[in-house]
Amino acid sequence: MTIRYDDRVAIVTGAGAGLGREHALLLASRGARVVVNDPGGSVEGTGSANSAADRVVAEIVAAGGEAVANYASVADREGANSIIATAVDKWGRLDILVNNAGILRDKSFHKMEISDFEFVVQVHLMGTVFCTQAAWPVMRAQKYGRVVVTTSISGTLGNFGQTNYGAAKMGVLGLINCLRQEGASYNILTNAISPAARTRMTEALLPESVLEWLKPELVSPAVAWLCSEECNISGEVIAASAGSYSVVRYVQSDGVQFDPGEPVTIEMFAEALPKITDLSSPEPHAGNLRKLEDRLRAIGRIK
Ligand code: NAI
Repeated sequence: MTIRYDDRVAIVTGAGAGLGREHALLLASRGARVVVNDPGGSVEGTGSANSAADRVVAEIVAAGGEAVANYASVADREGANSIIATAVDKWGRLDILVNNAGILRDKSFHKMEISDFEFVVQVHLMGTVFCTQAAWPVMRAQKYGRVVVTTSISGTLGNFGQTNYGAAKMGVLGLINCLRQEGASYNILTNAISPAARTRMTEALLPESVLEWLKPELVSPAVAWLCSEECNISGEVIAASAGSYSVVRYVQSDGVQFDPGEPVTIEMFAEALPKITDLSSPEPHAGNLRKLEDRLRAIGRIK
């Protein structure tokens, strides 16, 4: 089986370099018509240069594919609208949105300017929100859509000096968890990629011993599958690095159930902590109401 994207229209944000460029090249090589969005500029999000997007468009066209450039910033709502409009105006539809654009403004929390916190959130979280919200009515009307957001272990695990980035990267997961439900009846699937790859953004941060294997093109097959008609999952986080692929999920301990008809003291909570935090037989995270009726029935509080 060959997975293809003929007649599909895709947008990849931040596709002028690094991971986004690889995603765009792969999708185009399999028949997708691609909007290559990138305003250019530095890792910190300063400056701009149309050449970043233009170069990738030229690569796609030289390889026999179809692509158009867009130079807007995802962090700007009007800009994000223009990215979606570029696809719809040129090709009349939009099937795939890969929210990949990103910057870094690292600093330990106590030294971080709040403007740098806000700007990183604006690019990663609000940029993803702006693009996805502009794409949503188009995908709903088509009853078809594939949306990928880009998260990071700096969010799911944390990383020193990246509170702004980590917060934004967790934010996009909250977004897709809810959109998974809102998109389900419209065949709109929303998933996340959690990559590790050698790019200008990470060159100095990744371990030297494995750097040569952290090829950005090894992340793209997972992204491309999540964007395919064959994709049949939604709300998942796929980790991809150096040819390794896995799924990331939350787990929940069995915990304790006190009688809610009696007071619970701070000391009761403290004493139960080993059991509350015991993850020796973890269950999938299913929320606070998980098995609640069974638990309350077991202690005779409901019938
Ligand atoms: P990169 O710096 O090579 O590429 C990011 C691209 O986004 C650049 O071409 C940049 O011009 C563009 N961009 C920046 N601000 C933009 C904006 N406001 N609007 C549109 N485009 C904008 O970095 P890389 O590594 O390719 O990063 C891609 C995504 O993957 C980012 O979201 C990043 O946070 C994420 N990521 C990367 C990891 C890695 O190991 N490389 C690890 C975890 C997440």
